Amino acid sequence: MITHVFPTPQAVGTALAATVVDAIVERPSLVLGLPTGRTPLPFYDALRRESVRRAVSWREVRTFNLDEFVGVPPTDAESYRAYMTRELFGPLGLPAAHIGFLDGTAPDLERECERYEEAIRAAGGIDLMILGIGANGHIGFNEPAAGLQARTHRARLEPETRASNAAQFGGDVARVPREALSMGMATICQARAVALMATGAGKAAAVRGMRDGAITAALPASFLQLHPSVTLWLDAAAATS
Ligand code: PGA
Repeated sequence: MITHVFPTPQAVGTALAATVVDAIVERPSLVLGLPTGRTPLPFYDALRRESVRRAVSWREVRTFNLDEFVGVPPTDAESYRAYMTRELFGPLGLPAAHIGFLDGTAPDLERECERYEEAIRAAGGIDLMILGIGANGHIGFNEPAAGLQARTHRARLEPETRASNAAQFGGDVARVPREALSMGMATICQARAVALMATGAGKAAAVRGMRDGAITAALPASFLQLHPSVTLWLDAAAATS
């Protein structure tokens, strides 16, 4: 894995945003995989500014987000869909038809997961998958477990993951859904390239395990070792071993 280390989370976001804008200039119909959470906020901020500064059009870009809560409508401010609308889709004016998203309120959630896999395939696959990582080594909602599901699936959230999502639900962990839909590690690893961001000392152990430890379902991110093109975008705190 190629590792880039920057002094601050803002510098991580700025550098990765510049790389993504370069990729869109080179390939205007780029297919992006996108994460939510706290880590990507400086990245989305920089991506908005850099896109405007360089007058880059997002009209042909297609996106697929990693995951969504079960039971939270996409119109609800607490959904990941709403987060993305606020941070990226709205400000950059992405056409709705180019936005791929899991719907956690679909009547048949298994079918919804299959639909998503088909939509990614129909788009020609993901060119660049951008990721965060959980302190427990999760990617999306692929939580540490005895075994992982390869493809997009319905997942139960660990208490630690629900706690780290509480801010999105007014700080009330009891309101964080217990289930979500998530791309699987095979879906993620099929992207042509992967860029993983991690910032803060709380992520250092997960980053070390992912890069240098055994490949194990106990640390789902470790499966990225099997991918031929992964770049890590770290701040100094997350890079400390
Ligand atoms: P965070 O979440 O950016 O809010 O820490 C990352 C993740 O859980 O993937």
